[in-house]
Order: sequence, then C-alpha cells, then structure tokens
Amino acid sequence: MVTLSCPVRGCTRALERLERTLRCEVGHSHDLTRRGYVNLLQPQDKKSLDPGDRREAVEARRRTAEAGRTRELITALGDVLAPWFSSGGALLDVGAGDGFILDALASRLGAEGIGVDLSREAIDLAARSYPKLGWVIANGDRRLPFMDGSFRALVTVTGPKNAAEYWRLLEPNGVLIVAVSGPDDQAELRELVLGAAHVADRSGRMLELFGEQFDWVETREARQVEVLDKAALRDLLDGAYRGVRHGARQRFDAVDTMPVTLSHSLVVFKPRKLTAPATPKLSR
Ligand SMILES: C[S@@+](CC[C@H](N)C(=O)[O-])C[C@H]1O[C@@H](n2cnc3c(N)ncnc32)[C@H](O)[C@@H]1O
Ligand SMILES: [Zn+2]
Repeated sequence: MVTLSCPVRGCTRALERLERTLRCEVGHSHDLTRRGYVNLLQPQDKKSLDPGDRREAVEARRRTAEAGRTRELITALGDVLAPWFSSGGALLDVGAGDGFILDALASRLGAEGIGVDLSREAIDLAARSYPKLGWVIANGDRRLPFMDGSFRALVTVTGPKNAAEYWRLLEPNGVLIVAVSGPDDQAELRELVLGAAHVADRSGRMLELFGEQFDWVETREARQVEVLDKAALRDLLDGAYRGVRHGARQRFDAVDTMPVTLSHSLVVFKPRKLTAPATPKLSR
C-alpha cells in the first residue's frame, strides 16, 4: 500500500489512517471526504488563478473517453507498462482528470492505482466512479504527498511535468511515461476553430525537461482517426480549449460531422541512478 506523506509545510512524515482521518505522528490531521478522497492541497500549494479543470471540461473529457476516443492511448500506455507489473506495484497518474485512463490501466495491470489532480471537480468525479482506486487533490507542480520511492510507474497524460519530484517518487527501477499531444492531435478541429492545424512537436522538449534525472527509453505514438458528430466535436472543444472566438464559433456551427485525428506521443523514461537528489528543495 502506498503511504501518503504529510503535506504541512516542512513536515513530510508518513500519514497513518485512523477511520476517516489521516494523521502524522506530530498530529497534523487531514480528513477523508465522504467520497473517499483526500484534499491535501495546502495554502502554499494553491494557485490562485488556476484551480485545475472546470467541471464542464472534466465531464466533456469523460464523455470523450467513454466513447472510446482514448482507446489507442490507453492500449499504448498499458503495453509500455505491462512488463513492470508482473508482480503488483503501484501506479501514479499526475493530472489524472476524471480517472478514466488510470482505471483502465490499473485494471489491466493489476496495479494499485493512485490519481492526483489539482481540480476538485475532477477528483470528485473520479472518486465517485472508481472508488477502489486512491484519489488525492494536490498540486503536481509542487511537492507531492507521497513517501520516496512509492511507485513502480508514474504517468502524466498532458498533465504537470515535475521531473525532480517524479524521480523522488519512483522506485529506482521504475518507469515514467510523459504523454503529450501529438503534432497532429485534433488538427482538423484546430484548423476549423483556430485556423492553424499543426502544433510544434512537444516530445523533444520533454527530453530537455526530464533529461537531468531520467534516461530516455523510447517514444511511441498512439493515434486514431474518428468521424465525429456535433456533440462529440463539442466535447473535444470543451475538453481542450477555454472558449472559442465568435468567428470560429460560426465556422464550428456550420459543420455537422468531420473526421478528427486524436494523437499522443508517449515519451518513456527510466530514472537515472543519481547519487544526490537533483533538486534538494523537492526531495526531502
Ligand atoms: C488536459 S487535462 C488531462 C486529464 C487526463 N490526464 C486525461 O488525459 O484525460 C489536464 C489535467 O491536469 C490537471 N492539472 C493542471 N495543473 C495541475 C497541477 N499543477 N497539479 C495537478 N493537476 C493539474 C487539470 O485539472 C486536468 O485534470
Ligand atoms: Zn505532519
């Protein structure tokens, strides 16, 4: 079982569960909500302007996933992770959103699945839908509330990219997958509403961000093309973009169905054997 670590500034002691409360040995206590998740966000971890995704975005992404549109992504993630889970182990998803992807992976791998997100709406929906998994509200850009070396594998799918902290949380022989949108992800939709189809390849940037603490293993593509109706297109828009300008809205309204590419690049890393913590500030 993964042990949570106390998020009170400078504490980091292990948390023990006593009924509906998690408590460290000096007495800081954190209540489990009635839905079974815990909010470990501390005042210093809050981002005043960005509480994570809004409910509409979370629900739109859930509908997209339920319609099978993350199928290739989930298969590719599971294929990479499978060799690491022949004998149990824990899997952390940072920026887990509504939890659909983590639930699918944990079931396939027989892993203990723990999901973290900054959004209360996301974690609330995740905990309601998948009560057997562990759900925590925390800021993935700061210290995460788990003890060192707790996880066999860590995934982040278009979520926070906190290299030093991910290194601290992984077992020495663990694996990290950073999934980013592929250059042609939703290209048709982006062309329609933003007027520009392709975005820069982000996978190279991941090598820069993670290269200090991790060795690159491979990069895999996961791609599917789906003909989407209006409701499905709207869900993609609501899940990805925070509002569409007026002219774009008119172009969008004129379309009934269209094929859309859904693609991710999975950048796979192994923790480097470091003698000293890469970023002491985050590694206590
Ligand atoms: C684009 S969504 C992806 C959700 C999910 N991984 C998926 O692919 O369906 C990004 C998620 O990261 C969360 N997020 C953003 N910043 C975060 C942070 N600093 N810490 C934790 N989660 C964060 C958002 O609330 C949102 O749920
Ligand atoms: Zn404490």
